[in-house]
Amino acid sequence: MSSSNSEVPLTAPPVPIRDRESQLDPFDWYAEMRQDDPVRYDERRQTWDVFRYEEVDRVLRDHETFSSDLTTADIQPPRVGDDDSGFRTMLRADPPDHGRLREFVNERFQPGTIRQNRARIEELTVKQLDQLEDERRIDVVSDLADPLPVSVIAELLGIPTDRREQFKEWSDALVTPDAEDTEQAHETQRQDAWTEMQTYFSELIDERENGGGDDLITLAATARELDREETIGFCILLLIAGNVTTTNLITNAVWCFEEHDVTERVRSGEIDRTQAIEEVLRYRSPVQMVRRVATEDVKLGGRRITAGERVTPWIGSANRDPTMFDAPEAFRPERQPNPHLAFGRGIHYCLGAPLARIEADVALGELLDRFSTIEPDLTDRTPRPTFHGLTALPCAVGR
Ligand code: HEM
Repeated sequence: MSSSNSEVPLTAPPVPIRDRESQLDPFDWYAEMRQDDPVRYDERRQTWDVFRYEEVDRVLRDHETFSSDLTTADIQPPRVGDDDSGFRTMLRADPPDHGRLREFVNERFQPGTIRQNRARIEELTVKQLDQLEDERRIDVVSDLADPLPVSVIAELLGIPTDRREQFKEWSDALVTPDAEDTEQAHETQRQDAWTEMQTYFSELIDERENGGGDDLITLAATARELDREETIGFCILLLIAGNVTTTNLITNAVWCFEEHDVTERVRSGEIDRTQAIEEVLRYRSPVQMVRRVATEDVKLGGRRITAGERVTPWIGSANRDPTMFDAPEAFRPERQPNPHLAFGRGIHYCLGAPLARIEADVALGELLDRFSTIEPDLTDRTPRPTFHGLTALPCAVGR
């Protein structure tokens, strides 16, 4: 399986959703697939695509049959020399390793624990918006949605303030290829970022091995369950998993509220903001798909998947499945219940979900408090690579 697909980048989207518009609106294609070919094999990417809620849910829950350890299917994170910390994170681990790599930190991300950070997230949001130079035009992405999550995760990890810019550059290099870059250039960029991050975190871990602080790097550095590479992998995972995803949630919320004309009703409190955010998560899920590998031959949606084959469950499609959601193509900010899969399901359910929800709630609350009008310009929308969102969202604002 490994050699024949080496020319297709592993992050390549399927053919029908490669252009800009269809990346922003892949939903007709999903509907077609759910109807005509809900579990289908894509020869070019060499993966099974799964589109319906029922099967996506099953793949996510059944971690024994659908492994997250992608090394078995030749999906490689950047690898530097003999160092394999990229492989050894909870995201890419199956039980029993998965539990070991997650349990030591679980408590820190429980909703009750994370809520204690709300006041600080509010301060960071206000500080960010106080820096605006133009009071009439903002870019939601660069002025708030990009910098906020990186500041929050940096604080939780206990990263010195002066390194946060660097932190963001690394995170971007790993998930967001520069549009002008060739695949090769992007790979080199990723490798460089990876090496620099490893060196940086390694030094911090050395400093914190004796404990004392209550930051997450200290927690990981003193966790007896983790070896050195796993500790580095944990730091890098948090940085990557929590940034662009949360950026996109904040941006997609402003975008959806405008597109569906609900901004004023959210501002006035007529629509509950937290509920509206859940609908954004369903309607424009920042993570549209995840990846798995079959560990044994299995039947799914009437098709037979062979052990070792790749499987791509499309969360973004499951979240629009009419067997699960009434009028799924409608944006209904008061939808309840809303059992979307935007944060995944099963043992890999997003560790940072409570944090992402608070960040989005605080960011939107502050934007709506500060500006009496927010009018996004949606004429020139550019999709962000990898995750579902926009590279910029310029808005005319009034106070
Ligand atoms: C896992 C989405 C924010 C940390 C996941 C998964 C999804 C997801 C779909 C499951 C992946 C899989 O099953 O293969 C999102 C979205 C976010 C978000 C949509 C923002 C709106 C965050 C934040 C953090 C975070 C803020 C951390 C600070 C993680 C981690 C995992 C994960 C560590 C792996 C959990 C495991 O494997 O047990 N996320 N995420 N995420 N997320 Fe998030």
